[in-house]
Amino acid sequence: MRIYRFLPILLLAACQGTDDQTDTDKQVEIFTWWTSGSEAAALETVLDAYRATYPEVDLINASVAGGGGSAARPILQTRLLGGNPPDSWQTHHGSELMEYYVTPDYVASLKDLYDAEGWYELFSPSLVDMISRDGEPYLVVLNLHRSNTLWYNKPLLAEHGIVIEDSLSLDELLGIAESLQLANIPAMCMGDTGIWATGIMFENTLVGTIGPERYLGLWDGTTSFTDADVMQAIENYGRLLDHQNKDHAALSWDQAAKKLGDGDCAFYSMGDWVYGELIQNGLEENVDFGWVAHPGSDGTFLLVTDGFTLAKNAPNPTETLDMLRIMGDRVVQEDFNLLKGSICARTDCDRSRFGPYLQWSMDKYAEGVAVPTVIHGSAAPPGFQQALNDALTNFVVRRDHQAFAESLAREAHAAGFGQ
Ligand code: GAL
Repeated sequence: MRIYRFLPILLLAACQGTDDQTDTDKQVEIFTWWTSGSEAAALETVLDAYRATYPEVDLINASVAGGGGSAARPILQTRLLGGNPPDSWQTHHGSELMEYYVTPDYVASLKDLYDAEGWYELFSPSLVDMISRDGEPYLVVLNLHRSNTLWYNKPLLAEHGIVIEDSLSLDELLGIAESLQLANIPAMCMGDTGIWATGIMFENTLVGTIGPERYLGLWDGTTSFTDADVMQAIENYGRLLDHQNKDHAALSWDQAAKKLGDGDCAFYSMGDWVYGELIQNGLEENVDFGWVAHPGSDGTFLLVTDGFTLAKNAPNPTETLDMLRIMGDRVVQEDFNLLKGSICARTDCDRSRFGPYLQWSMDKYAEGVAVPTVIHGSAAPPGFQQALNDALTNFVVRRDHQAFAESLAREAHAAGFGQ
């Protein structure tokens, strides 16, 4: 009997439930590997901008930890194969986008969005080209990261009487490393629980040793992995490995960035997501840390982009397109990149909002030769990227130069671009 007394309340609750249901019916799921302090903070700026405009939509931030996407990509593949795609996911331009997602038809064209937003005028033609096939763009690109930067702890080097000017040669770096070794300080910071992180130091050393043209030749078969200059690059990489912190295999890339900031190691050859992390840890550029191009790679810009897709048959296409529109917004790109340590993909961002490092990166991008990275999936097919990671895992432990070079030459040949 008592139930009747509560009937009006129950009916009201049921009605409210239906209303809530309608509200939460609207959702959008974004899949990334941005979980380090700076990555998560930068992503939040984008999500906040979306929430401010679309407060009624339930935003699902599906991030899978693991720098470079090493853990996220296999999980995403399983979801795509199972017909359960997120609405949008993070990926890099070039091979990764094309071979993992465009060829198997997992992504929808964004041409209408580009036309409607006037983005063909606001993103450079070369960038649009990198994310298009047959004239159809498949990504909204948020940022341009530079992968070949050498970071250093300024006070630590000053303590040892070392001042770094505008550039540093490999011999100078190795000379400093020897003197730091006498003081028991590892020169090179490394955190390679994800093997891709040491892969960056390899790739940076490779391009710094053989130059951008010969580096590009690796991906069209005009340079062989067993050529003398590539063997020299492997040798140089090995010499840098000799100076890395002993606990490198137990640390992630961002833990190594923390180590750099704390002065437990001196240099870090790593993409400029490190800038984001150092700033996030409260350090000040040009005071607590400095940077130069990785030795030998001054005129080269190893380019890493982060872009977002629209899933074919996305569960929530309208909300996803709204999200992509927000990602392409100028102010959103500025806010995001200030925290992420990258420069805008759009060409009309306000330069004066950015500090010395990011302005340096803008100039280097404008003046230099931009080349794709293999470690971040852009330069070579995914099979070769995996083979390189395996070869690196062996090399870091065994240091067999010849076996390393030969395995890469074999894999390049198998992938169809080697000699
Ligand atoms: C890259 C990505 C960057 C950065 C880095 C470390 O693949 O493009 O945005 O987050 O991984 O996780």
